[in-house]
Amino acid sequence: MAEILVGVTGGIAAYKTAIIVSQLRQMEHGVSVVMTESATELVGKSTFEALSGRPVRTAFFGSDRIHVHIDLARESDLFCIAPATANILSKAANGIADDLLSTLILSFDKPVLFAPAMNPSMWNKPVIQNNVQKLIEFGATIIYPEFGRTSCGEVGVGRMAAPESIIKEIEKKISPKK
Ligand SMILES: Cc1cc2nc3c(=O)[nH]c(=O)nc-3n(C[C@H](O)[C@H](O)[C@H](O)COP(=O)(O)O)c2cc1C
Repeated sequence: MAEILVGVTGGIAAYKTAIIVSQLRQMEHGVSVVMTESATELVGKSTFEALSGRPVRTAFFGSDRIHVHIDLARESDLFCIAPATANILSKAANGIADDLLSTLILSFDKPVLFAPAMNPSMWNKPVIQNNVQKLIEFGATIIYPEFGRTSCGEVGVGRMAAPESIIKEIEKKISPKK
């Protein structure tokens, strides 16, 4: 069984990440959740605490652990950021580390997976596509968003991949190579 770090950023698809955390726990993986401040506006920390059985961290200062931005990276086998906002993709592609979640991405040296989710116009912006390409070049895996109706009513590519597809990608990365 693996130790999985789940990063939740401020996209409306954050509620679907609760399903991912629940299923990973049912598969007997250890799951730690880190949320951005924006994510906590969309889904409560308590939901992820109940599903993971662990405290949810949002900040380094005032945390129960002094080097939480290093410890969680060392202790985890894989980092999956779902949903990944336009903001976190852009910060990660440029080495910006101005909160716990973005700092963990920088200190993480095992597989990092991003499941972007955003409005189709945001997803199609050249700056976002450029940042996605950069992340791939830096070794990250992108679980591409799907076509459909987004919560803002627009139809296009931008919906977060289905929880089952994200879990499948996680499993691929953590299962020993045959
Ligand atoms: C209701 C609501 C839904 C949002 N959904 C998304 C989204 O799906 N994708 C996205 O990139 N930004 C979305 N945003 C905007 C982000 O929350 C905002 O860019 C924020 O700065 C992201 O911060 P974070 O990356 O630190 O979580 C949404 C904002 C609101 C108010």
